[in-house]
Amino acid sequence: MDKNFSIEGKHTTHSGGKGEYLHDWYSYLEGFSSSFVSGILDSYAPHAEIVLEPFAGVGTTPVYCSLHGLKTYYCEINPVLRKITSAKNTVISLSKTDKEKYLERLESLILSLISNVEKSKPSETLLVNYHNVFGKSVFFEKDTLNKVLKFRTYIDDLIEIDSLLAISVEVAVLSCLVKCSLLKRSGDVRFKTPKELTKGIPDLYDSVIKQLKLMAKDCIICPQSIAEMSLLGINAKETLDLESVNADIVITSPPYLNGTNYFRNTKLELWFINELFDKSSLRSFRDQVVTSGINDVTKAKGNDTLPITEELYKELSENSYDSRIPMMMTAYFYEMQLVFKGLQHHTKADGIICIDIGDSVYAGVHIPTHKILTQIGCDLGWHLVEEVLLRSRRSKGGKELGQYLLVFSNGINEDT
Ligand SMILES: C[S@@+](CC[C@H](N)C(=O)[O-])C[C@H]1O[C@@H](n2cnc3c(N)ncnc32)[C@H](O)[C@@H]1O
Repeated sequence: MDKNFSIEGKHTTHSGGKGEYLHDWYSYLEGFSSSFVSGILDSYAPHAEIVLEPFAGVGTTPVYCSLHGLKTYYCEINPVLRKITSAKNTVISLSKTDKEKYLERLESLILSLISNVEKSKPSETLLVNYHNVFGKSVFFEKDTLNKVLKFRTYIDDLIEIDSLLAISVEVAVLSCLVKCSLLKRSGDVRFKTPKELTKGIPDLYDSVIKQLKLMAKDCIICPQSIAEMSLLGINAKETLDLESVNADIVITSPPYLNGTNYFRNTKLELWFINELFDKSSLRSFRDQVVTSGINDVTKAKGNDTLPITEELYKELSENSYDSRIPMMMTAYFYEMQLVFKGLQHHTKADGIICIDIGDSVYAGVHIPTHKILTQIGCDLGWHLVEEVLLRSRRSKGGKELGQYLLVFSNGINEDT
């Protein structure tokens, strides 16, 4: 095995993949780039045939592997991201002839898109859901909201006629929703500042058309997939009861214990695909996610703890301004142990498990996430092959943190 993996820091983040085909279909800040996946495969499992990605996000790992002949199984809890991954999969699976036909249809759809969407009735269901979920909050200018509601009806009608075109338009709208709203994705989603608003909000129709053209261009240059990618399950915490996929390698980046609110950050997109109906809908998604933010904590979460986190729990309890912080930490590691047990079950005895993870600081207390996860893995019988510092980061308070690649072997210690 070629150790001492090294890669330019930017490829361990979403921006590293900018401009690559399929990467810009949805700007997912928590993602990494396909070079990261290829670098890991070259270094640790050049002969791998089966890959597992339990936290697939927008599908960077399964899409790369599928294009390069590796069968991939993946999990992802967020239906918006699953939709985007599934759209990428459908498009890369098209034969040359089917792709040409699809591109012709897409081209003519783009030409008449605005007039056809304009003719569609604003979706009443989506508007009712908006009020039920978001109350009086105003996330769009009036005219834009109307266009969004019309897009919903247009897409729903198109599904009956041409489901591939319908999913393409839906993904393009998903990619533009935040950009064309009063919100901004800047780490977490927040309202645009008055200064940002003076730059103007992009028009939804123009933005969707631009996005569809980008998707068409990607489709032309992207090769056809040569291996299947399949959804193993939605929830990475619940894979133990499934038949083992016998993966040669796991490549993944789990949620960091840094408060990222994965579901709130995609609330507009979840609403648009009819996954949010009332104020409790977001809550039910948060219950399933790996606890990584304060808002994910519930009374039920945090009751199950691992002995390894007891000291840290005490320290955080003494220093934290919010009692949910120590609970969040214990819940995170408990749930990650559940995920790790699933990974062990689904990976070959001599398989490799690669985890991209960062540490964090809460209330001045350092949480060495990479070290604790290493201990959890080793307690399950894994052996740490290598810990690579991918890049240095800083906490909001300026403390030096890292982003690490943990490479484990599932049972056989290469160093002995
Ligand atoms: C750091 S991101 C991974 C991004 C991915 N590497 C990419 O390039 O797009 C972590 C992902 O884990 C997902 N996630 C969180 N809890 C999960 C769970 N219990 N099961 C499956 N996925 C989960 C989040 O929705 C998020 O997309």
